Amino acid sequence: MRKTTAKHLTNDNEGIAAAVRFLNDGRLVAFATETVYGLGADARDGQAVARIYDAKGRPQFNPLIVHVQDLDAAQRFGVFDAQAAQLAAAFWPGPLTLVVPLAPGHGLSPLVTAGLDAVGIRVPAHPLARRLLAAFDGPVAAPSANPSGRISPTTADHVLAGLSDRIDAVLDGGPCPVGLESTIVGGAPLALLRHGGLAQNDIEALSGPLAAAGPGIRAPGQLASHYAPRARIRLNAMHASADEVLLGFGAMPCDLNLSARGDLIEAAANLFGHLHNLDARDMPIAVAPIPNTGLGRAINDRLNRAAAPR
Ligand code: TXA
Ligand code: MG
Repeated sequence: MRKTTAKHLTNDNEGIAAAVRFLNDGRLVAFATETVYGLGADARDGQAVARIYDAKGRPQFNPLIVHVQDLDAAQRFGVFDAQAAQLAAAFWPGPLTLVVPLAPGHGLSPLVTAGLDAVGIRVPAHPLARRLLAAFDGPVAAPSANPSGRISPTTADHVLAGLSDRIDAVLDGGPCPVGLESTIVGGAPLALLRHGGLAQNDIEALSGPLAAAGPGIRAPGQLASHYAPRARIRLNAMHASADEVLLGFGAMPCDLNLSARGDLIEAAANLFGHLHNLDARDMPIAVAPIPNTGLGRAINDRLNRAAAPR
């Protein structure tokens, strides 16, 4: 991990331009939204998204919310049925995240959705977030800008207290007016996945009664629908047998390598894409050992789930 001190960017053209440069360079920028500060990265850039998990010290790849400027932009990444489009029209911009099926050709890193085929999307209402998204003109993946296991930040100082030496910049929009994370709905029938800044009643006035939040949803690593390959997975393999394909790590002969140079950020960025590719070959997958440090913990968590009997 690089040791730096995050730049404190102010709410003006210069601050926004600097934030956009960081995002274009694959770096991490925390920014104000009306709910809580988000830790943003270009959602199309797998290594940038991997840095989010690394900076937060997340032990698992929970799916991240994609932030966009408006419903038009959202429809490039997700498929909105009539009900989702109606909620978006009513409550965006605002503290509502809609989990919808990924659109064909979406171009998002698979790490954003943790390999799932649905994506959480939100159009934030904070003027600074809106200016940033308009200037960047691309999808920004952003979880709350706190170290894993700590509470969500509602000021730039909170962000810096937790992540100052792990991120590139914070774009200061003052205290967050809502101060609670967004409400999340998704699935068919439409379910409440997380309570948040938009009241359930307000949603139900349009959608009718929502199904209850499942107990596993708050800890999304436990999502029943987490991505698992069809193929049998064998971990800690140095070699593949004749009827297996080998997913490598570090310099070694293999079918696909997560990172030939042994870089865990690169490995995380490649994890879901490589698993999908190898899975398409219809052979059991042997996986090289991954060091259990830094992002390696999240990689191993996901590999262990994929290897577990089901
Ligand atoms: O207000 C908010 O939602 C803030 C600001 C920055 O937008 N973001 C936020 O992100 O709270 P985070 O990562 O702390 O929580 C996002 C949660 C995930 O833990 C997961 O439960 C859910 O959103 N989520 C995101 N994408 C999902 C998906 N594809 N399927 C199911 N759940 C998803
Ligand atoms: Mg959070």
